Amino acid sequence: MNLKYADRLQNLSGNAIREIFKLLASPEIISLAGGNPAPETFPCAEVARITTKLMEEQGSSVLQYGATEGWMPLRQEIVRWLPGVGIHTDVDHVLTTTGSQQGLDLVCKAMVNPGDIVLVENPTFLGALHTMKTYQAQFRPVETDEDGLIPQALEQALKDGKPKFLYIIPTFQNPSGRTLTLERRKAIARIAAEHELLVVEDDPYRDLRYAGEALPSIASFDEAGYVLYLASFSKLISPGLRVGAAIGAPELMQKMTIGKQGADVHTSNLSQAIVAEFLKEGLLVPHIAELCNDYRVKMEAMLSAISENFPAQVKVTHPEGGLFVWATLPPYIDTTALLKKATEHNVAFVPGAGFHCDGTGTNTFRLNFSMPSVANIKKAIAILGEVISDVL
Ligand SMILES: Cc1ncc(COP(=O)(O)O)c(C=O)c1O
Repeated sequence: MNLKYADRLQNLSGNAIREIFKLLASPEIISLAGGNPAPETFPCAEVARITTKLMEEQGSSVLQYGATEGWMPLRQEIVRWLPGVGIHTDVDHVLTTTGSQQGLDLVCKAMVNPGDIVLVENPTFLGALHTMKTYQAQFRPVETDEDGLIPQALEQALKDGKPKFLYIIPTFQNPSGRTLTLERRKAIARIAAEHELLVVEDDPYRDLRYAGEALPSIASFDEAGYVLYLASFSKLISPGLRVGAAIGAPELMQKMTIGKQGADVHTSNLSQAIVAEFLKEGLLVPHIAELCNDYRVKMEAMLSAISENFPAQVKVTHPEGGLFVWATLPPYIDTTALLKKATEHNVAFVPGAGFHCDGTGTNTFRLNFSMPSVANIKKAIAILGEVISDVL
């Protein structure tokens, strides 16, 4: 074929995780690579019952086209749910999205012209980097430490020309598992207001907390309307439903709504209505408690297996929630080559380079603990410990 593809795809290869999935075809492989919720936690019976009820009572509206802004009962339930993250708002500030990935896409569509600068944590979620690249954004990494993004580094980064927004995952960050401290959350909201900087706060893991105290969102400290909060029900109910929400200033919501009209018109009414009913019936809180009980055991199993099996030169994060542990090896180790060796021993992880916007991080990798069983976590970490020891 002789097709001239758009410039926006020129520097994009396939998503690194999707490439790794090809390596995982063998059933013997224990994958610590994905970021999927454990399928045994899916509330299949409740979703089946709710779907039947919806068809019986509201089938003619659920199966019809709907509003781009979202299914009104869901937007209302989200407004009721948001005070839990410190956000007190109304439906005009809420746009339902097809997963929070679409929230990312729509904010880029609304804000980013080719060559515009976006501030990012380094490492950050590779799906977000992928979306921003399709809008031809340029990345400016902002320094982070164990407590997340450093506000002074953000102020410094703002001196080199104004970026379109800061993209940040403040809680149990993907991939690092790190959580931004309370003081830094306040500082970032203050800097955003002072510099009229849009902050895109992507917070899909917030409720998956297995230790420590919950923290208010950055958005909860935002009085000037400069924080766009992205929520997702993927990790809390089911990713297959594809339901998330963007919460922000009505002006920005309107721009994103225009963008969504040209994308999918609206998120599936059926999916939105299922999530709305799940929330309305009060099922989410007990379901999250069950998820946390399951994932807490898995996270602890992974962290103690790591301390027993990994050589001391490997530094790992100790998250209090989320789905990931992040490892940093000595700089001379290339984790893409290490992955090849690990898969020969039937263990997979995600090399860290793809989470970095600047070609660094080749000595890092991400481990997921939600999908594998506790027994497989222990087995895989023991194997990985040996594979790493061999290359050090
Ligand atoms: C930080 C972050 N943001 C957004 C997403 C996208 O999630 P979804 O589109 O399923 O809501 C993910 C998925 O893994 C993620 O880790």
